[in-house]
Amino acid sequence: MRSMTYLLSIKNLKVSYSNIEVLKGINLDVKKGEKVVIIGPSGSGKSTLLKAIDGLVKINEGEIIFDGVKVNNENIIKVRSEIGFVFQNYTLFPHFTLLKNVMFPLQEVKKLSKEKSEKIANEALESVGLLEKAQSYPFEVSGGQRQRAAIARALALNPKLLLLDEPTSALDPEFVGEVLEILEEIAKKGITMIVVTHEVDFAEDVATNVVFIDGGEIIEMGPPSEVLVSPRSERLKKFLSRIIRKRLVYSK
Ligand SMILES: Nc1ncnc2c1ncn2[C@@H]1O[C@H](COP(=O)(O)OP(=O)(O)OP(=O)(O)O)[C@@H](O)[C@H]1O
Ligand SMILES: [Mg+2]
Repeated sequence: MRSMTYLLSIKNLKVSYSNIEVLKGINLDVKKGEKVVIIGPSGSGKSTLLKAIDGLVKINEGEIIFDGVKVNNENIIKVRSEIGFVFQNYTLFPHFTLLKNVMFPLQEVKKLSKEKSEKIANEALESVGLLEKAQSYPFEVSGGQRQRAAIARALALNPKLLLLDEPTSALDPEFVGEVLEILEEIAKKGITMIVVTHEVDFAEDVATNVVFIDGGEIIEMGPPSEVLVSPRSERLKKFLSRIIRKRLVYSK
């Protein structure tokens, strides 16, 4: 079966919000271990695509096959437990320590014991360099550290697929580097990742494939050396010159 060779296979995916179609037939295959970077203008449907993969929005048409199984209402909870999702605005519980934040889904979703959860959570925090902050509350740490804790929380579940929606865009510029470094380390360990980000250097270093979405459609897709270096469409050329110009302004 062809789809078995992919961890994720999206076929003709269409999603609408109150009759406005925002994904207009997305086809995307992701093999195990691949790192896909999604770029595209604001409102083009990037977050909606990640949400659809995680079963958080209703699909109008098309299908998603995850790990060889067509996702449906019956198996979505199981599928979701195998996908880690890091949202754009870190969503830690403010009244829990970082340790408790990472433990929570292990206890509630994976139904692991407190002891087991604590052990795994500590390891996950260590892997993002936050062991010494385990007992701190989110308001007591930096934005970069909060986002690293959110990444630890997703990783602790040992997901087959890790989705990250603009993991650095809400951060002050001085914290962007540390989060990208952690993501690069995680990527090297072999996990399959789909990352929405406009960090071009990260995409060049880490991505196996770059996907450019505009107006709810995939306009171009391929290795970073093609998509980022020699874009074919006018839309992508314009988009890239815009984000690269922005980067130059920031680094001044
Ligand atoms: N819950 C919702 N209800 C109605 N419309 C929505 C909803 N979420 C998103 N939209 C609309 O769907 C379109 C795609 O939104 P989406 O959040 O996927 O874009 P995006 O590419 O992630 O943008 P950004 O770069 O700004 O995060 C936009 O026009 C947006 O306004
Ligand atoms: Mg978005």
